[in-house]
Amino acid sequence: MAKITAAITAVGKYVPDYILTNQELETMVETNDEWITSRTGIKERRILKEEGEGTSYLAIKAAEDLITRNNINPKEIDLVIVATATPDMLVASTAVYTATKIGAVNAFAYDLQAACSSFLYGMSTASSYIESGRYKKVLLIGADKMSSIIDYTDRATCIIFGDGAGAALFEPNEEGLGFQDEYLRSDGIGREFLKIDAGGSILPTSEDTIKNRQHYVHQEGRTVFKFAVSNMADVSEKILERNNLTKETVNWLVPHQANKRIIEATANRIGLAEEKVMMNIHRYGNTTSATLPLLLADYEKELKKGDNLIFAAFGGGFTWGAIYLKWAYNK
Ligand code: UT7
Repeated sequence: MAKITAAITAVGKYVPDYILTNQELETMVETNDEWITSRTGIKERRILKEEGEGTSYLAIKAAEDLITRNNINPKEIDLVIVATATPDMLVASTAVYTATKIGAVNAFAYDLQAACSSFLYGMSTASSYIESGRYKKVLLIGADKMSSIIDYTDRATCIIFGDGAGAALFEPNEEGLGFQDEYLRSDGIGREFLKIDAGGSILPTSEDTIKNRQHYVHQEGRTVFKFAVSNMADVSEKILERNNLTKETVNWLVPHQANKRIIEATANRIGLAEEKVMMNIHRYGNTTSATLPLLLADYEKELKKGDNLIFAAFGGGFTWGAIYLKWAYNK
């Protein structure tokens, strides 16, 4: 019997309608379009404005896009994983609510949190379930309502992040396509440099934590930048070497969209031509867990069966890694 690999067989996406431009940010904090564009590559990001809606709203819409465009019967889905750093609420799982809302009534569901690497790690989890033969349809959704944890008076963070969601369906493949290899890393040294101080078990919410604005993302950008540049490039190089891939045989780099300069540094290290690098950071900013599946959805029509894709991400924690996957279909 042929070895079962885990292939992505469908993708979907959702971004909210509201566009927060660099020009609008200029009216909110001391910044300018030229600085944001040259330092990050971001021109605009989407913001979920619907009152009382959280990350599940984005996740549900991305999943529904995948389901309707590909005629998937949600009752056949075995497992729904929502990769997110901004769950709807503490304790009650965002994935469970999402699964129920999309009609995945026979699935079980849970959230996976690894900051900006959540979707990358989720790809490893989803693929393992498929490769083991345990499940046949695993829906992995990357979704984040970053606007819910961003301080819009802090110019160091508010210019970077946006809201969005993307989804990918993993199914068994007997042609050797899909997931090939992974190199995943983490290092707790990163905790001090990218975090939300309060609202967790170390520092529960109190009047003081609210007064001190400790429920927002705090990032030491320059330090995170340095780690991101070297680590994302390292793992990408490593996964190429390990799989005897070259800049000629790699078809696409699918990099986490945190900063255009980090993406370019990774591409340069492996010598990849610009046209092989997926990029949509100018339109959405950093959507955390949603960047990788949003890229897949935006580039889906250009992808060919058998293409070699290298996914790479770096995020809070620190968490980072690279995954090598062969694309499994033509659209
Ligand atoms: O996805 C999760 C992982 N996160 C990342 O990968 C993010 C990594 N970090 C970055 O992308 C970059 O560090 C940032 C985009 C966050 C910042 O860019 P930078 O080139 O590292 O800038 P910086 O923080 O070193 O600041 C340079 C200067 C500072 O002024 P002085 O001290 O040189 O006078 C800042 O105060 O730019 C100033 N600055 C700004 N100026 C205009 C910081 N933010 C802004 C702003 N507009 N929004």
